[in-house]
Amino acid sequence: MTTDLPISEKITALVSKIKQLVEQKGSPIVISVANQKGGVGKSATVDNLAELFASFGLATDILDIDAQSSITNLKTDIKSIIDNNLPEMTDVMLETERLENITFKLKENLYISPTTLRLSDAELNLVNATLRELILKKNIEDLDTKLDIILIDCPPSRGLLTVNALSASDYILIPVQSEYQALVSIELIFSTINNVKRSINPQLKELGYVITMATNTNHSDEIIEEVTADPKADVIGIINRSIAVSDAGVANMSAYEYDKTNKSAQQYFDLAITILDRISSKEVELHG
Ligand SMILES: Nc1ncnc2c1ncn2[C@@H]1O[C@H](COP(=O)(O)OP(=O)(O)OP(=O)(O)O)[C@@H](O)[C@H]1O
Ligand SMILES: [Mg+2]
Repeated sequence: MTTDLPISEKITALVSKIKQLVEQKGSPIVISVANQKGGVGKSATVDNLAELFASFGLATDILDIDAQSSITNLKTDIKSIIDNNLPEMTDVMLETERLENITFKLKENLYISPTTLRLSDAELNLVNATLRELILKKNIEDLDTKLDIILIDCPPSRGLLTVNALSASDYILIPVQSEYQALVSIELIFSTINNVKRSINPQLKELGYVITMATNTNHSDEIIEEVTADPKADVIGIINRSIAVSDAGVANMSAYEYDKTNKSAQQYFDLAITILDRISSKEVELHG
């Protein structure tokens, strides 16, 4: 499916910078979208960013590591995966299948590594595996498919699957819902990030926080103010609540493709650009 997205010079320049970085690095840029709090817009954010990156010309994989399989459900015929007992992320985590073999092309530049509810069982079995925190990282390193970006849709927990995602990632992007537990979830995610950085992946960098489902209410404004003022949270985007976001997901497209005039759609578009901007400038710094 194509979009009639006006590919501005800025996007073209960013895409070529990102491709250059991926070439230098020799592997795709991996971004975990994580927050142990449920229902904060992780999957919607992965979906929108992946669709936008792909439409910009970046080969993007959606890697579903949440047993609820929300994004697999939106993007694939999950019934046929289950009915035909097809291999998926569960088999990768159990080390009986390679990620390469379960990474499927959805359309031009867009791929998915799907999962099913079986993954919840696999997490228990992982407890006894050797180097159990690094199974995903090893699989990503062994990928042959030419990808520029992998977006990992994490489960709402701090268990071994999230640890695997963060261990394999260059960046973490944190959606925070504009509601009263936002600050608590920032504290928790901050300690998870520090644990992973200290023990497994010192290279993990914070891409930033995205405030999701913002509404036109005093309460929402207050939360946005509080989160923005929190020195731990670098807010790089705000996404308003809009039915267009869920409708677009069901219609299997980005909110931007669904309705360019929608405010939330434009906010996701701006977020996609900001992320590519950040990655290119940070990585350039990193490589001196
Ligand atoms: N900006 C938005 N406006 C309106 N609805 C939204 C928005 N973002 C997400 N939603 C809807 O809110 C619900 C929860 O979002 P989503 O599934 O993305 O959260 P999640 O953090 O991935 O949840 P979980 O922790 O269960 O995986 C979904 O039905 C989704 O369509
Ligand atoms: Mg989700």
